[in-house]
Amino acid sequence: MRIFSGIQPSGTIHIGNYFGMIKKMIESQNEGELFAFLASYHALTSVKSKELLEKNSYEAAINFLALGMDPEKSTFWIQHDVKEVLELYWILSNHTSMGLLERAHSYKDKTARGIQANHGLFSYPVLMAADILLFDSNIIPVGKDQIQHVEMTRDIANSFNHAYSKEIFVLPEARVDEIVATVPGTDGAKMSKSYNNTIDMFTSLKDRKKQVMGIVTDSKELNEVKEWENCNIYSISKLFMNENELANLRQRYETPGEGYGHFKMTLLEKINEYFAPYEEKREYYLNNKKEVREILEFGASKARKIASAKMEIVKDCVGLI
Ligand code: TYM
Repeated sequence: MRIFSGIQPSGTIHIGNYFGMIKKMIESQNEGELFAFLASYHALTSVKSKELLEKNSYEAAINFLALGMDPEKSTFWIQHDVKEVLELYWILSNHTSMGLLERAHSYKDKTARGIQANHGLFSYPVLMAADILLFDSNIIPVGKDQIQHVEMTRDIANSFNHAYSKEIFVLPEARVDEIVATVPGTDGAKMSKSYNNTIDMFTSLKDRKKQVMGIVTDSKELNEVKEWENCNIYSISKLFMNENELANLRQRYETPGEGYGHFKMTLLEKINEYFAPYEEKREYYLNNKKEVREILEFGASKARKIASAKMEIVKDCVGLI
């Protein structure tokens, strides 16, 4: 069974990415063959600065490695090192209807927010289909916002298989963990780089404190009983606390005397504690970027073998002599 997923190096990685996808991927290394990559070509749809893309790419790679990505056991690379994906992208474009792309939520959301659409943004799902189909991937661990893209991948694969009456592409399935399908941000909306409501995974203690202290709550006073059910602090605490700790927190909400600032401090400590064990390894890679680049290149060399064999089959199938 092949498990496959990717992340765009388009900004600092946040706890939504972590619980929605990264954690599941790292854990899945014991379950099947893991293929994990950094979607650098996809990031070009939003990042238009050389320095920023380079910085984000290293950071994403380093975070994965610090969190336990094993480059020997798994295949871990950066998208643009395996050029076959662009060949497949073009071939698949000819099996993707305009209507399918026009229905994509992420495209519709971005244009609704006034982002000028270009062809890269519009055809984003075709490149994502190429990523997945190039590797005969079975399971795609993702957050809820990517389910539609995986469904579109199935549509494109079906359309291709049907056109040539051959089962060339494996139909992938999205794997979404309901509890963390959509991790809320500091304002209660989906945590997202584009909404500026993130709590970042690795950041300075000062910045993390600022993010946690910025969690939006109602304006109940210290001496009032508070509701934990719809409280953003509680929703995020659920990711970091066990049942006993949560029961204790609920009790504190129900007992007058403490304010939201106290609950935020408890959460902040839990988050700091959670990521602390990975800091040392992260620091090591931050000081050894050349090694990080070599690890990605090693991953690409493994990925390319599979990708080029698949492209031989695809090209033969469509008649590219
Ligand atoms: P990206 O970079 O936006 O996000 C990476 C992963 O994090 C998940 N995620 C969340 N999960 C739960 N709650 C949240 N608030 C939250 N925010 C983000 C996303 O669902 C995703 O799983 N298109 C992809 C990258 C990609 C890809 C692929 C993924 C390119 N090709 C092929 C899988 C297979 C993306 O933009 O993810």
